[in-house]
Amino acid sequence: MSEVVFNYIGKNFIVVGASSGMGKQTAMELAQAGAHVLAIARSDKRLSSLQAIAPNLIDTAVIDVTTASDEQWEQTIRLFIEKYGKIDGAVYTAGTTGTTPLRLHDGADARNIMETGFWGAMKCLEIVTKKKYSKEGSSFVVFSSTAAYLGGKGMLVYSGTKAAVQAAVHSVAKEIAGRKLRINSISPGWVKTEMTGNYLDHMGQSSQEIEDGCFGKGNPEDVTGMVLFLLSNRARWITGVDFIVDGGFMYGK
Ligand SMILES: NC(=O)c1ccc[n+]([C@@H]2O[C@H](COP(=O)([O-])OP(=O)(O)OC[C@H]3O[C@@H](n4cnc5c(N)ncnc54)[C@H](OP(=O)(O)O)[C@@H]3O)[C@@H](O)[C@H]2O)c1
Repeated sequence: MSEVVFNYIGKNFIVVGASSGMGKQTAMELAQAGAHVLAIARSDKRLSSLQAIAPNLIDTAVIDVTTASDEQWEQTIRLFIEKYGKIDGAVYTAGTTGTTPLRLHDGADARNIMETGFWGAMKCLEIVTKKKYSKEGSSFVVFSSTAAYLGGKGMLVYSGTKAAVQAAVHSVAKEIAGRKLRINSISPGWVKTEMTGNYLDHMGQSSQEIEDGCFGKGNPEDVTGMVLFLLSNRARWITGVDFIVDGGFMYGK
């Protein structure tokens, strides 16, 4: 039983990248706390199994963030807010990775990493921060990575994407502050999810190196506490910041 209990009854959130890993965990915890959640990803099947956990609280929509038009985003969000009212915030976790060494990388793979992790997030923010969709005081969270700080061999595009997310957050925070909207990013360390499942060495860090760090590898729920806190009114004076949640790997060795 968690010592911190969030109460999101009557609140509405969008989670992009909700079919797996930290996005799925975020969607489940928001629904457990009573929120209505619009869960977005590409896999209808995986979204349906998420929805089955809390059918009255979780709605789903299939969107590929690399190809979605403004109209598709807007129509999806309109349907959700017509049912429940304007949103109180959104979490963007969609991301993909891969190695892109300077001399050998596949340009299409590299562009996909950037499109999914950065441009998809910016498009989503452009839409969800509109006055017609979000309440005053809404909070937004996007996912960066410790790779933005550490880099790593073959990680130039992933690290660059995640650094771009952090830089954008500093600017977007200033742009949206007028309606008391907030935005922050989270930089997880190595978390056991589908993304890291196939890798022994990843994101510039070796698996053994992580295990030798303070708290080793994490699970999605080790990160999502920070997400729920940043969405809450207890974080109302916090905006434009990146939070490292990495089991002490970066600074704790
Ligand atoms: N795991 C780690 O160790 C780690 C560390 C640092 C940072 N991060 C970052 O944290 C975030 C979440 O990572 P995770 O490990 O939880 O990943 P994950 O389990 O692989 O989940 C990624 C999610 O993004 C969705 N997605 C991918 N491409 C998409 C697209 N084109 N359109 C819509 N949805 C898309 C996936 O759903 P569909 O496939 O159904 O579309 C899935 O729901 C990512 O941004 C990642 O870069 C992860």
